[in-house]
Amino acid sequence: MNLNKNDKIHFFYSFIQSPKRIGSVIPSSSYLAKEMFRSINFAEIKSIIELGAGTGVFTKLIAENISSSAKGLIFEQDSIMQNKLKETYPNLNFYSNALEMTNIVNTLDEPYVDVVISSLPFANFSREIRTQIAQDIYKVLKPNGKLVAFQYSRQMKHTFQSLFGHVSTSFVPLNIPPAFVFNCNKIAQSTEKYPVE
Ligand SMILES: C[S@@+](CC[C@H](N)C(=O)[O-])C[C@H]1O[C@@H](n2cnc3c(N)ncnc32)[C@H](O)[C@@H]1O
Repeated sequence: MNLNKNDKIHFFYSFIQSPKRIGSVIPSSSYLAKEMFRSINFAEIKSIIELGAGTGVFTKLIAENISSSAKGLIFEQDSIMQNKLKETYPNLNFYSNALEMTNIVNTLDEPYVDVVISSLPFANFSREIRTQIAQDIYKVLKPNGKLVAFQYSRQMKHTFQSLFGHVSTSFVPLNIPPAFVFNCNKIAQSTEKYPVE
């Protein structure tokens, strides 16, 4: 999917209507997209979640690269953007609210995922919602699963660190605004129990 002028106008219009939920005035740059997927090996992925798809800068990469047997679960709260993505990428499954994530993952044959890609504007959420979604991401990941999240500040690093332990951070200046990318790996622990509770 090419981002056309209408997509960008709708994204900007949505930002004006609901700045906290949208979190940015324009979609992410190709530089940020490249950095978000730098550590992802699609050949190994059986299931992937994207949170906050927007106009689909990252969704496109997921749709074009996952294997035909892999599941892509895409969450976007804006119904206009979600409907457009649904039409464009029939090989992916679409949902609205990231807070539904654990319930939806629990309905899968294998109730956990390999990778979560997040663009959610955590800094604009209440502490309670921030913590809930971060914990849900941790719960739905397989042991050795991976979260890649971008943010415009380092605010979430501590929360991710407290869940995942080590977090590796990179910075992408060529984005509006410049962004931090957090790579978090869920350490495999044999005592962990699935499906998620
Ligand atoms: C900063 S934009 C990122 C859009 C796109 N991924 C990009 O990088 O250009 C954040 C997106 O998250 C969506 N969003 C915010 N809260 C959400 C939630 N609770 N569940 C699902 N999507 C949400 C917004 O509607 C918005 O499209």
